[in-house]
Amino acid sequence: MPDTTPTGLTRLAFGGDYNPEQWPESVWHEDVRLMREAGVTMVSVGIFSWALLEPTPGTYEFGWLDRLLDLLHEHGIRVDLGTPTVAPPAWFYRAHPDALPVTADGTRYEFGSRGAICHSNAGYRAAAAAITTALAERYGAHPALALWHVHNEYGVPVSACYCDSCAAHFRRWLAGTYGTVDELNEAWGTAFWGQRYTDFGQINPPRATPTVGNPAQALDYKRFADATLRENFRMERDILHRLSPGIPVTTNFMTALSQCDSIDYWAWGREVDLVTNDHYLITDGRRTHVNLAMAADLTRSVAGGAPWLLLEHSTSGVNWQPRNPAKAPGQMARNSLAHVARGSDGAMFFQWRQSRRGAEKFHSAMLPHGGTDTRVWREVVELGASLDSLSPIRGTRTQADVAVLWDWHSWWAQNLQWRPSEDHDPRERADAFYEALYDRHLTVDFAHPEADLSRYPLVVVPALYLMTEAAGNNLEEYVENGGTLVVSYFSGIVDEHDAVHEGPYPGALRDVLGLTVEEFSPLLKGERVRITGPDGSELSGDVWTEFVVPRGAETVWTYADGLTAGHPAITRHRHGEGSAWYVSTRLDVHGLDALLGWAADDAGIAPRADLPRDVEVVCRAGESGAFLFAINHSALDAKVPLEAHGTELLTGEGAAGHLGVPAGAVRVVRLDD
Ligand code: GAL
Repeated sequence: MPDTTPTGLTRLAFGGDYNPEQWPESVWHEDVRLMREAGVTMVSVGIFSWALLEPTPGTYEFGWLDRLLDLLHEHGIRVDLGTPTVAPPAWFYRAHPDALPVTADGTRYEFGSRGAICHSNAGYRAAAAAITTALAERYGAHPALALWHVHNEYGVPVSACYCDSCAAHFRRWLAGTYGTVDELNEAWGTAFWGQRYTDFGQINPPRATPTVGNPAQALDYKRFADATLRENFRMERDILHRLSPGIPVTTNFMTALSQCDSIDYWAWGREVDLVTNDHYLITDGRRTHVNLAMAADLTRSVAGGAPWLLLEHSTSGVNWQPRNPAKAPGQMARNSLAHVARGSDGAMFFQWRQSRRGAEKFHSAMLPHGGTDTRVWREVVELGASLDSLSPIRGTRTQADVAVLWDWHSWWAQNLQWRPSEDHDPRERADAFYEALYDRHLTVDFAHPEADLSRYPLVVVPALYLMTEAAGNNLEEYVENGGTLVVSYFSGIVDEHDAVHEGPYPGALRDVLGLTVEEFSPLLKGERVRITGPDGSELSGDVWTEFVVPRGAETVWTYADGLTAGHPAITRHRHGEGSAWYVSTRLDVHGLDALLGWAADDAGIAPRADLPRDVEVVCRAGESGAFLFAINHSALDAKVPLEAHGTELLTGEGAAGHLGVPAGAVRVVRLDD
């Protein structure tokens, strides 16, 4: 059995992508000296090195990598070794021009960047298997090797290819999935617009069509593309397991919903030995630490709650957004330790030494162009020391309070064309509900709609348009057994083939919610409706309204204006031992907070009024003890109440009663038993 943590690593992982091939070897010695100064424990190597490792087909030049791995080993630095299959060399494309991917409108990409790969291409698969085998044979038992890093960020930058090889592969996948073409016709609803097929050979990828194509076909293509990437991951992983037994295999995910939308990470989480993630702050004016927390919680959830590893983030600015601000003093440490609080057993970066050439020369690094007499370097060294003192938290698990349901298939389906309103964005609802829970200081686990939810007092469904009957039954059982459920509009509408569940909306949720929805009535741009509560107070919604008919549920809030005036806006259904709330409009932050407040009361979750906004408090616990992280993202000093005595690990000071957390600082208390 492979390890599930980096082999031989006894402390938290700290380091970054290390691309020494961009520098003369004389620089490597300075690199390892500075790595030691900073407390680096592991680096990721070789992710883009195929052209150097195999300069001509079948000829390998391992000398430089031998010397590098030996040097790192001598200095006690563990290695996360990449298979370079995201960057096939120029010679490969000369021999296999058809391995360059094709877009839905027929454009074939060119060589000259990275990740230009048709994953169905047999030539690519053979070449990827060969370089992976050669690396595993050479380094599979190298004493520095801690972790295998397959490929890089599957799904980015190309999520799907539409070429002829993919068409053939798609047909095989469909035949395997449906068995007969009649089954496929039924599932895809091809009676509509005369799309019936009589042979699998007639089916193509959903390439450009004059008007909207078959939605079930488009949804299946998303599934197929994701499954195809997974086939290639498994191929490499199985070679590595065979030739390098015991060493864990990972591939770096990008769970942030704003950064990758084509990968079903629930499925991928089951394939890797260790879940690893890359996360970059999107500076769009919103609170970046909330997006970070959400991505970290989602990563931990796809890891089944087990510790995971942040493999990439940035020390300061990135270089691929329209505007790339530097991080504020202390922000890098807050970001790093927020990931750690939410389950990462370390904090790694892209990249160790800032490049002088190439597309990423203006991306920050641990060792900036300015060298060691820089703020970034000083903060890197400080972070290394902080992580060292947090070693005892390795292997502990983050404690969650509530679950939010998420399903990539539902997201894909909901983003297909011709929906009731293009202003309804399921990701926006997920973000908004998450932020409202964050502001109530509740730690969130994400869960698949068919997962066991019994340990959560409160389950939130921000927007799950596609919901299987099994998921609907799961939620019903959850509420019957005493759970509290909150469901947002346009959920439970279609089955796994994007076919509307039979009977009135929302087919999968009618019984648990105790209502039906007669009609959707999306609002025009900028339009708002008022809704009034039992005590006459007012909230407002936009984007969406519905004609809800209670069938057992009580109406708690009612539309005060608009087409739906007088109809229920927010309902609550007592069902079995629990209750299910439904909201049929898009509430703003204030409204969401109110709704979650009532639901939290039902669930018996006490409010944390004693914690200031933007002070993040998260607990990890396990065999080595219980640890409370307090991260102060605000500009004011804060006090966090402590229920037990303990020792603050970053300062070594005792902590009791209240924990002082200066503005911008992080404190981690090991609580006494
Ligand atoms: C990641 C990628 C790295 C680097 C980084 C820059 O998505 O894996 O190789 O490009 O972005 O932010």
